[in-house]
Parts: sequence; structure tokens; C-alpha cells
Amino acid sequence: MLRHLLSKIKATGPISVAEYMREALTNPVMGYYVKNDMLGPEGDFITSPEISQVFGELLGIWCISEWMGAGSPNRLQLVELGPGRGSLTNDILRVFGQLRSALGQTEVSVHLVEVSPRLSQVQAQLLLPAEQSQQAASDDQPVYRQGTTAAAGLPVSWYQRLEDVPRGFSVFLAHEFFDALPVHKFQRTPRGWREIMVDVDPEKKDELRLVIVPAPTLASSIFIQADEKRDHVEVCPGGGVIVQQLANRIAEDGGAALIADYGHDGTKMDTFRGFKGHQLHPVLEAPGTADLTADVDFGYLRRMAARKGVACLGPLPQRDFLKNMGIDTRMQDPAARAQLLRSHDLLTHPDHMGLRFQFLCLLAQSRLPAPRAPPRGLKGDPLKTPAALPVAGFTELSFS
Ligand SMILES: C[S@@+](CC[C@H](N)C(=O)[O-])C[C@H]1O[C@@H](n2cnc3c(N)ncnc32)[C@H](O)[C@@H]1O
Repeated sequence: MLRHLLSKIKATGPISVAEYMREALTNPVMGYYVKNDMLGPEGDFITSPEISQVFGELLGIWCISEWMGAGSPNRLQLVELGPGRGSLTNDILRVFGQLRSALGQTEVSVHLVEVSPRLSQVQAQLLLPAEQSQQAASDDQPVYRQGTTAAAGLPVSWYQRLEDVPRGFSVFLAHEFFDALPVHKFQRTPRGWREIMVDVDPEKKDELRLVIVPAPTLASSIFIQADEKRDHVEVCPGGGVIVQQLANRIAEDGGAALIADYGHDGTKMDTFRGFKGHQLHPVLEAPGTADLTADVDFGYLRRMAARKGVACLGPLPQRDFLKNMGIDTRMQDPAARAQLLRSHDLLTHPDHMGLRFQFLCLLAQSRLPAPRAPPRGLKGDPLKTPAALPVAGFTELSFS
């Protein structure tokens, strides 16, 4: 990967941080996600669904609650973006099984958007019966892998891109997905905003370094907001496109999306970092062998989603979301207590994932409190009445 990047830069000049990140993570032959199973204690990092199954179970309840809040439509697509080892979907499907009577005759299907053939294989091994999970993926098809879940016989399909997932009422989940999407980096300078790019280090010819390019680039001219106050900004245009696709689908087909990630509300500056073996790793060292990530700018995602006419709730810290969803009550259940004893702190404590991890929810406008005419004889704006079901996990927040 390093040789490939060095010769590319020597031939055509410095590349953006976004292009570097895209190559290092998802190059179809050498990309970090494409060839590794990096999750868990033996890998490079650990995520909430891998820490405790209770996490996925609470999200399963959230999915059912949003489906009921939308009037229990007779088709429900569970769509996960970047499912990793498949643990979150697996835990959610267990809840669907337990609440089968609530779901009744609803036609439930599962759709996984996963760029990595290696990880899709791991997901298939968890979700499908053994004989189906062995079947080879067909790379060039929009649906590159298919099967039916071992436990409930639900259809599962794998896609490289969200565009290929069928339309219809869907609950979308993206857990630690947006932080893996490529970011551009920009620096305020006395001559205006300039893009930071990746170049060959002239002193050590087989190493890379970050440089501030002298002239504006197309990206630095279009991605910086006129009223930007920070001196350094990371922008993830791919994340903006995907959140708009989600918003479009929710506005037109109904449904909801829950986006959970390390992130901030448009306040942080330099968050681009690498992880290898659970340790921080220099971002330009041995590309393709370490995870690269940048905190999600939830302010940017909200702005992009709101343009498409959906309602947004959050971002809300993970601690508050999980407490609103009843994680403390689950501690009183003896079976869940054993599961949660060590992980409760990791998931909710402010020094661990409690505050740094945030939840953003996109909803169809029909989930907003319904306007009601003011009482007769009184003039003014229509009054708002609460929607029949509050939005689980976000009960204290008002819509925008
Ligand atoms: C950090 S892992 C998170 C895995 C899982 N959601 C979890 O929390 O355990 C990122 C996931 O997104 C996938 N991914 C990364 N970039 C992607 C892209 N552009 N399109 C689809 N999937 C992608 C990776 O292969 C991996 O499954």
C-alpha cells in the first residue's frame, strides 16, 4: 500500500487526506477493511455491540418502537451500514424473535451495506446457517451475497452501496460507520483557507508527510462555511451524501435512522487518528495495516439531513440515550446483570464511551407532534399535540 501511494503521489502530485483515507481503508485489493477482521480483543479496536449484547438488544427495542410509532407498517426493512462482525444485527434479530407477537404478520427483511468481502463472510457465518455462509460472494452484482437467517428464516442481503438497497419503510442503523468515511482537512492561514494534503517526504523518500498546499483547492473553496470560527476543519462530503440519501428515503418511504459514533457538534478541530492493536498509531505509517478514523461532525450531518425535509433529534450522549432506553433497569435482571457488570461502566461512564459517543436520529415529519387547531374563540398558531408514541431514547429532546 505504501509503495502504491508513493508512486501515485510521485506521478501526479500530493493527494487529499480524503483520498489517502479511502485508499488505506477501502482499496479493493489492499484496503484495511477489505482484508482484515479488526474488531474485538485480538484486533485493533472494540465497539459497543462487541462489548455487550445488551447494547444491541436496547437498539432492537428502539427499532420496534419506531416501527410502532410509524403505525406498524406491514413491511419492515432493517438496514445496517457497516455491520462489522454482524453482532448488532444479530442481537437486534434476537429481540425481534422475542417480540414476534408484536410484529405479527409483518414482512421483516435484513439489508447489510458492507464494502468488505472479508467482513461480509464473518457476518454471514454469524447470521446464516453454515451451508449458506460458505457460498462465495459475487463481487460484481449489486446484491453480492444472500441467505436466510438461521434462527427466524428472515431474508438477508448484502450490498456494497446504500443506493442498491430496495426502497420501502426502513429502520437504518449506522454504528461506527460514518467515522470510517474519508475526510478532507483544512487549515486557516493568513492567506485564507488551505487544504492539508499527503505528499512524499523529500528527506526520507519512502515516507509520507502532511503538507499545507500553497493555493486553494476545489475542496477548500466549496466546503468551508462562510461563518466558520475554527482554525482547522475536517469535512466528510461522503458522509453528507449518505445522510442525504437516508433523509430522502425516510421522507419518501417512511422510517427512521439512528447514527451512533464518536463525534461533536461542529466544535472539534483535529481528530484524524489511527488505531492498531488498541493503541494510537501514526496516521501515515504503514497505511492499510491500521484503522483510520475522524470524529463525526454531527452539526454537518444535521444540516445536510434537514435540507431533505426530515426531523432530527440529537446528537445525544450515549450515556443519556442508553439510560433513557433502560440500561439501568436491565441491570436489575439477573441474566442481563451478569452480562452488564463490566460493560455498563465502559458504555456509559463519561471517562469511557458515555459522553464521547453520540446518537443522532432522523425521522419522517409524520413522527412530529401533530398540529391541532387552537380552541374556538382563541386566535393564534395551531397548538402542537404530542405524537402518539414518544421517540424512545430521545424523550427529553425537542424536534428540529
Ligand atoms: C469501525 S467498523 C464498525 C463495525 C460495526 N458497526 C461495529 O460497531 O462494531 C466500520 C464498518 O464499516 C464498513 N465500511 C467502511 N467503509 C465503508 C463504505 N464506504 N461502505 C460500506 N461499508 C463500509 C467496514 O467494513 C466495517 O464493517
